[in-house]
Amino acid sequence: MERTFVMIKPDGVKRGLIGTILQRYEQKGLRIIQARLMKVSRVLAEKHYQEHRSKPFFPELIDYITSGPVFAMVLEGNKAVSTVRLLNGATKVEDALPGTIRGDFAISTTENLVHGSDSAESAEREISLWFPDAFTSSSSASDCL
Ligand code: TYD
Ligand code: MG
Repeated sequence: MERTFVMIKPDGVKRGLIGTILQRYEQKGLRIIQARLMKVSRVLAEKHYQEHRSKPFFPELIDYITSGPVFAMVLEGNKAVSTVRLLNGATKVEDALPGTIRGDFAISTTENLVHGSDSAESAEREISLWFPDAFTSSSSASDCL
């Protein structure tokens, strides 16, 4: 079992796609073990996207991710990191295939609906950044199910 950090970005929340997107993850056998609808501060957004600090699209990315509430979550399942990336689809709008979340719903590369951690190391960093008070890896909300 593996955990990953996933976020439905502001355009997904605004467009009423939370349910549709969650269904895809759940149908694939991933379990929601933390979830929170939240407004993102610039400090949190900049920490989350720190690897892109020097990229030309960074200011636009931070403006966008702080523009409205996001639905942040931790998903757990077999190969959760790569499974979520596969379901999300390619980053660039023109490369995202039909059948993926971005391929079916995204309109631009910046407003591409979803985030998924790109490795187990990123997942660990992002989960502790977004859910600092969360249960440790040895116990979780899923223990209550
Ligand atoms: P990245 O981490 O490369 O993509 P992913 O979300 O698939 O892990 O980039 C982070 C976000 O930055 C991406 O979801 C959308 C935005 N972005 C742009 O706006 N323009 C770009 O050219 C790239 C590469 C990303
Ligand atoms: Mg990324």
